[in-house]
Amino acid sequence: MPRSGIRYGGDYNPEQWPEEVWADDVALMAEAGVDLVTVAVFAWSELQGGPGRELEGGWLDRVLDLLDQAGVRVDLATATASPPPWLAASHPEILPVTAAGVRLSPGGRQHYCPSSPVYREAAVDLVERMARRYGGHPALELWHIGNEFGCHVPACYCDVSAAAFRAWLQDRYGDIDELNRAWGTAFWSQRYRSFDEVLPPRIAPTFPNPAQRLDYRRFSNDELLACYQAEKAVLRELTPEVPVTTNLMGLFRPVDGWRWAAEMDVVSVDRYPDPADPNAHIGAALVADLTRSLAGPRPWYLMEQAPGAVNWRPINAAKSRGQYRRWSLQAVARGADAILQFQWRASAAGAEKFHSAMVPHAGTDTHLWREVVALGADLVRLAPVAGRPVPAEVAVLLDWESWWGLELDSHPSAEVRQVALLLELYTPLFEAGFVVDVAHPAADLSAYALVVIPALYSVGDGTAANIDGYVRRGGVAVVTYFSAVVDTADRIQLGGYPAPWREMLGLAVEEFAPMPAGTTDRLTGVLAAATSSARRWEERIQLRGAEALLSLASGPLEGGAAVTVHDHGLGAAYYMATSPDPATTAEVLAHAASRAGVSPAARVPSGVEVVQRGDHLFLINHAEDMRQVDIGEAEREDLLAGGRHSGVANLGPGEVLVLGAVEVPPGPDAPTPPR
Ligand code: GLA
Repeated sequence: MPRSGIRYGGDYNPEQWPEEVWADDVALMAEAGVDLVTVAVFAWSELQGGPGRELEGGWLDRVLDLLDQAGVRVDLATATASPPPWLAASHPEILPVTAAGVRLSPGGRQHYCPSSPVYREAAVDLVERMARRYGGHPALELWHIGNEFGCHVPACYCDVSAAAFRAWLQDRYGDIDELNRAWGTAFWSQRYRSFDEVLPPRIAPTFPNPAQRLDYRRFSNDELLACYQAEKAVLRELTPEVPVTTNLMGLFRPVDGWRWAAEMDVVSVDRYPDPADPNAHIGAALVADLTRSLAGPRPWYLMEQAPGAVNWRPINAAKSRGQYRRWSLQAVARGADAILQFQWRASAAGAEKFHSAMVPHAGTDTHLWREVVALGADLVRLAPVAGRPVPAEVAVLLDWESWWGLELDSHPSAEVRQVALLLELYTPLFEAGFVVDVAHPAADLSAYALVVIPALYSVGDGTAANIDGYVRRGGVAVVTYFSAVVDTADRIQLGGYPAPWREMLGLAVEEFAPMPAGTTDRLTGVLAAATSSARRWEERIQLRGAEALLSLASGPLEGGAAVTVHDHGLGAAYYMATSPDPATTAEVLAHAASRAGVSPAARVPSGVEVVQRGDHLFLINHAEDMRQVDIGEAEREDLLAGGRHSGVANLGPGEVLVLGAVEVPPGPDAPTPPR
């Protein structure tokens, strides 16, 4: 059984160190309050010397025993993420090939074709040996399958993949005419007479068929997932009682988070916001909200973050004082039950030697180590929060398959990007203090008062009806441009965009008019300020019952609608035909929130993040000066600093306050507490 409380630790790679360092490691883990470490993620070549060979696991036995004696539990990796040199040398066909036909070499990591039967067999063999040897070890708490699937090689274009793709297509379409219809191959003389003629969308003279590319993204996600599932099947058979996870990468396009999370017992994410970006905490909050939403009622873990700088940006900023603590506690506020880092001890060699770690090169008489130890103590104080839910009345919708279609080329504008648009709408909600779930468009949305839909490019009939029904039954939806434009095969839904939602929105779009980068047009109307402007995209719209809240006041479409609202059944549907400036976007969302009757857990000044988790209120000051928040008259316990607060709470620069439940004074009928 997992322990209670918020877990703390990181990736532990003892194979990089002489054995005498290990005792120091466990002593320091105790000092920092570390109780969970991920072991053996990249240890395949240290564990196995050739195909089908016995594990050379003596060192790992000793590591696990040592951790067990120290009371540290283990998230044990299956070690399959980076094949050893002997496998690539004896089977070069496992190496992945790019869309340009270049076969990648070993020497980095993750150099395998996900469709390779040779790779899959070798991986399954290793997992079986790991499960047999360590499945009963008392330190084992969780299996960590692979690592960041798809990170470096999201798709392979080799001949083995091509054959697997044909089989996948045959399964999906049954006969070749169905494929021809779905892919629209009457265009540019692309009609196939047999599945044997079909190839992966390798580099072609010009745009490859978009539906073929979309299907290749689906196929590649499925192939990676099949690798994960093959390992999971072994673990389920040999160690059915041990939960499994793998580390997702948040808003990472190649891997469909919904499909993957459904296969895990604990949903994990790696999160690396850039300390040099003053708004990084907002994107980080979105990733936490996404992971919580993917997990649903299951726990979610922050599987990796950097205690300081990373090594893979062109310039790798260090974290400022308190930033590690704030970003960690933000994840706890938003539902995380474990805060783990990459990695425990900073490597002395290899490509990641300049990546920060919990134990830095300079040792423990350092600012970073003191922050690491202090956070461990904070997490102990936050034990009452573990396992508690984070309620949300607002959702943003995200569908990976639609995202794959949205970002294909030969579109009206290359500037319409899923994550950027998502963040533009999430940011004002975050700043107003709303906690936001991320939901799949086909999910039951009835728990939400407000649903925001950023560029949901493709919808099937069921999804379109789901959202229409949500609004009819009283929900409020905010839909942006370039939504419901195509069906799930990337075929235009005809008759005026967005065809399935014209009635819901009370309008029809005749023409898209994307704007040159950096240009704006003026906006006017009831939600406009003097500075309100339209950016990126405009449309020629016929209003059919919708009311314009903002209209274009300059540019080629001057006088046309830009943001509208329409009553539909018991609810209302807003339409944003442009990306207004941030302040105006915030006005539109505030209007929709008020129509939906939702308000945040507390009113907070700018720079302060507010989240309610269970009975606890988290207030995080991301600003560089003092902020004040009215927390109400009832006295509340301060979980981190001790003491109590009521009335106006002062939050120093970068400070975090976690307040306990509002204590209800005992009434006349209250039972006498036992003595
Ligand atoms: C990812 C990987 C780790 C490490 C870190 C570096 O999260 O899973 O192995 O490479 O990135 O930031």
